[in-house]
Amino acid sequence: MKQKTTLRTPRHIAIIMDGNGRWAKKQGFARVKGHEAGAESVRTAIRCCRNAGVQYLTLYAFSVENWVRPKAEVAALMQLLRRFLKNNEHELHENQVRLRVSGRLQDLPEDVQREINRVMEATKHYDAGQLILALSYGGRTELTEAMQKIARQVKAGELPPESITEETITQNLYLPDVPDPDLMIRTSGELRLSNFLLWQLSYAELYFDDVLWPDFREPHFQKALENYSKRKRRFGDIE
Ligand code: IPE
Ligand code: IPE
Ligand code: MG
Repeated sequence: MKQKTTLRTPRHIAIIMDGNGRWAKKQGFARVKGHEAGAESVRTAIRCCRNAGVQYLTLYAFSVENWVRPKAEVAALMQLLRRFLKNNEHELHENQVRLRVSGRLQDLPEDVQREINRVMEATKHYDAGQLILALSYGGRTELTEAMQKIARQVKAGELPPESITEETITQNLYLPDVPDPDLMIRTSGELRLSNFLLWQLSYAELYFDDVLWPDFREPHFQKALENYSKRKRRFGDIE
């Protein structure tokens, strides 16, 4: 997640890590085994981003919609999150990577919140790259909360409605300083956004792979990067 950045390399990659459950089912395992195997793909993705010079990596780890899953699965995912933080904190320090969260961290179990807040605080001065975990995240929720913040500023007389711009909205999102993703990857063959970064992905290049997340390793990641490097980003202009 540092240097070597060229125009052909995305500055920010966002990933919908999908297909853990199907991966487990295919091998006759419980769904949670798929999430465990997916954690190794997370480590691979972080390493690939570092090696390629990608500065921001946002991982959709748990959506606001995912709370409807069976209690045992939600608990297993929270347990994996605890384990992930424990096993990977040293690498964040070694590589000077800052951990951040996008989403309703306050919805998570208190000990997980505490642990995440501790690691975020301990890594907040690092500038080699940012690892952003989207947790209890929903794009519509994020936009709704932004509208509420803006409405409060208007009501307090601090913000005339006619001075609201796109930048005002961006500034009231969860992580206003993070640039929009250049590339969005979704695994498992599903062709939808599932409420991920609705505002921020407006001009992202989209890449879909049929591979299930636990099988998405370095060659797949390289293929996605190579595919991105051949895209023409016109942003409405010609050529
Ligand atoms: C993605 O895998 C992980 C999370 C949503 C937390 P899934 O659990 O959605 O796996 P499938 O889509 O059921 O195969
Ligand atoms: C999206 O995957 C959320 C995460 C990867 C965390 P889902 O598996 O929850 O999405 P849907 O339900 O198929 O749209
Ligand atoms: Mg899924």
